[in-house]
Amino acid sequence: MSDAGYRQLLDATLQYLESRREHGVRHVHVSSALLAELERPKSARTGAKPTAVAPGSPARRPAAPAVVEKPSAPAKPVVPAQPAVVEQRPAAERPPVSAPASSPQVLPLLGAPGRALSPAEKESAMAALRARALVCRKCEHLAAARRNVVFGVGDIHSPLMFVGEAPGADEDAQGEPFVGKAGQLLTRIIQTMGLGRDRVYIANILKCRPDTPGQSSGNRKPTPTEMGTCLPYLLEQIQIIRPRVIVALGATAVEGLMGKTDGITRARGQWLTFQDTPVMPTYHPAYLLRNQSMAVKRLVWEDMLAVMERLGLPITEKQRGYFLRS
Ligand code: URA
Ligand code: URA
Repeated sequence: MSDAGYRQLLDATLQYLESRREHGVRHVHVSSALLAELERPKSARTGAKPTAVAPGSPARRPAAPAVVEKPSAPAKPVVPAQPAVVEQRPAAERPPVSAPASSPQVLPLLGAPGRALSPAEKESAMAALRARALVCRKCEHLAAARRNVVFGVGDIHSPLMFVGEAPGADEDAQGEPFVGKAGQLLTRIIQTMGLGRDRVYIANILKCRPDTPGQSSGNRKPTPTEMGTCLPYLLEQIQIIRPRVIVALGATAVEGLMGKTDGITRARGQWLTFQDTPVMPTYHPAYLLRNQSMAVKRLVWEDMLAVMERLGLPITEKQRGYFLRS
């Protein structure tokens, strides 16, 4: 990695740790191997060149196996797979990332889920991934326009993950997914399931707000190129979290995960599979805000009941009856 790249990663890691401290976090999970490595005198550490310092970063391997290694190929980290490598190459060597979600450039990342990470390994792998995403400039136009990278929020140990499309203006301002009007509706849906935002994980296909030059509000759909470029971050999030169920919110989320679909109206309510993980496609909460009909609300609710059943969550009679005309 170049010195500039190293400093950028270091800055991002420090910024991330500072922001956790501002939020009252007093401890971070670090793998015991990384801790041992950090405690060794600097002169004794492997190699003269600085490598990434983000907790759990694959760049410190083999000293910091916070990243799981495949038994059959011990030298290769399985978890933060390709994107780490792609990002660390100088720009000139980087392959152009212009492919849609289902293209071969993205597909190799979909394989080899590896073994599940321990809770501490998950924390450090996710912190390292977040640090990389926060300084990402692969879409220069989005990086120039954004106020925040909207990485993801919630419990990385949750069995349930929601995937949306892209941040809007509110999310861009706050750096958190689903906090605007549609987000508040999503929060109510999650609460109606008997959960809370802090008990699930929420992320988007795109981590930056799709820019709308000359406008401070309004949204646009991400382009296939933007989606293909950003998708590796979501794939790594999924590989780290290993949710038991993913809810794909709206057509763009379904397309991002599954490639082209017949449209959300046909896809919703039917289980799909993404890398062995069951995916429930449903309408986007923004669509529910535009279409207030009881029938459409009930369809989304039926999808959530199916998710609750799949997860073995308790379902009350009252919950079963929501949005049914009596
Ligand atoms: N819509 C989305 O798809 N994601 C957000 O984070 C907010 C609105
Ligand atoms: N139209 C949309 O834009 N989103 C949906 O989820 C459904 C219909």
